[in-house]
Amino acid sequence: MSMINIIGAGLAGLSAAITAAESGRKCRLISVLPSERAQSVMAEGGINAALDTMGENDTPQEHFNDTMKGGVYLADPNAVWGLCSHAPETVRWLCSIGAPLYMKGKDPVLRNFGGQKKKRTAYAKSSTGKILMNAMIDQARKYEAEGLIERYPHHEFSCLVMNEGVCVGVDVIDIYTHQRISLDGCVILASGGMNSLFPGLTTGTTVNTGDVTAAVFFQGAELANLEFIQYHPTTISIPQKRCLISEAARGEGGRLYIEKDGKPWYFMEEKYPELGNLMPRDVVSREMEIVRRDDKCGDRVYLDMTGISEFCWKNKLSDLRQECIDFLGLDPVKEPIEVSPGIHYFMGGICVDEHHRTNIRGLYAAGECACQYHGANRLGGNSMLGAIYGGKTAAKEAAVLADDAEYDAKQVKRMENEEQNGDSFVAEQDYSINRYSAEVLKQALGIFRNEQGLNDALKEIDSRLSGNSLTKKQYRRLLLAKAVLLSALERKESRGAHTREDYPDRNDSEFQKTTIAVFDGKEIKISMRDIPVKRGNDNEI
Ligand code: FUM
Repeated sequence: MSMINIIGAGLAGLSAAITAAESGRKCRLISVLPSERAQSVMAEGGINAALDTMGENDTPQEHFNDTMKGGVYLADPNAVWGLCSHAPETVRWLCSIGAPLYMKGKDPVLRNFGGQKKKRTAYAKSSTGKILMNAMIDQARKYEAEGLIERYPHHEFSCLVMNEGVCVGVDVIDIYTHQRISLDGCVILASGGMNSLFPGLTTGTTVNTGDVTAAVFFQGAELANLEFIQYHPTTISIPQKRCLISEAARGEGGRLYIEKDGKPWYFMEEKYPELGNLMPRDVVSREMEIVRRDDKCGDRVYLDMTGISEFCWKNKLSDLRQECIDFLGLDPVKEPIEVSPGIHYFMGGICVDEHHRTNIRGLYAAGECACQYHGANRLGGNSMLGAIYGGKTAAKEAAVLADDAEYDAKQVKRMENEEQNGDSFVAEQDYSINRYSAEVLKQALGIFRNEQGLNDALKEIDSRLSGNSLTKKQYRRLLLAKAVLLSALERKESRGAHTREDYPDRNDSEFQKTTIAVFDGKEIKISMRDIPVKRGNDNEI
């Protein structure tokens, strides 16, 4: 029986580790930072599940429909059905392990969130990530005590160990001692989004660099839908990063407006009477840009939360209020705050099938590093769900392979047949290249894009790639940046979070497909792959 190695100890990694341990299987949980500092603790507004505790007759089918529509029909429908149909069970499980969600009796209370007409988002004020992580860390600790989960804290992924095209292990580096160790077994990546492509410009932690994604891309893993980068409508600028003002603020009644002819114009409510401020994020962010460019409007968009009730502030949003007071010096109970869209999530990433398998046997991915459930735009509240359900699915699938005798045999041969692709530990000396590429990508990959801008950026990245003073890590980051630009160039249509000024329409006949990027050792190849056809709901619980 082979081992399972899990890279990343946030929600997806913890979920994979707990799932493996629940079935009595040993696994290694490897991460640079302890779980308490994973990006998942920063998740705010909530987790979606059609629990139907609010008397609205909600169903998993409607959750599925909203997720597919929100992602503009690019997600794998079979995977999304698995996600949505298992969501109620997932949230009930979180309650059972002690996550203190906001409850009424035995039922989680649900709030409104973007792109969904029904109340479907379970929450704990706007610190949902923190409380889910606490419960899962405690749960994992029980299995650590039993020896089923073996922690490798302060260890950084270096490279996959490959044998005849199969992933049979992983090399990691202790960032304190710089010692490199080689670990046998299959690998589940749960290493988060690609924030280091945009340092200072994302709501996420820059510890989730995307370097693992870049490294496995270099080793032949397919990436998908890289062009879809989510701009969250309501972020504020704080030194060195964007700070999220949770969608929960709008779910609980916050309203966006801009000054027009000297008066507040609640443009989302006027333009989209049905969902108003709670349209999917791609739509809201785009509309904010459009009104800011309108000569008749001011250039600042505000979030007005002054109509939210005292009860709600106290019980549901007290931490969000404190965030505004701490970071802006403004009390949102009394006055509107200025907000603008900021990079929040990468819908694209390591391409996985509905079982979270990559194109490399023995390699799986889950959570934000994987491209799976969100298509062209993720619905708020689906990311923690996707991470937990995805980690679980990946672990179950990896367990099947770990028991496969033929796969196990490859481990023995590995030492004779090892391909080393990893970097030895090199503290980066030259940060200017990261800032430089961030600036280039920012110009080209805003809410609106066009061919000229994307090509200009490509030229810049190419000229850096051909330089000779790059570390392996920097080279791969730039390669990843290039793959994002090439994917955005290839998608000659506007869909979800990808708006092309030069191709303003959605084009289903050519582009209702997944964009695939693969590196063959010499160049990046981009292709369009058909979306799987939906089966009957056979994978129902
Ligand atoms: O706005 C938010 O609270 C973000 C939630 C999410 O990205 O799922």
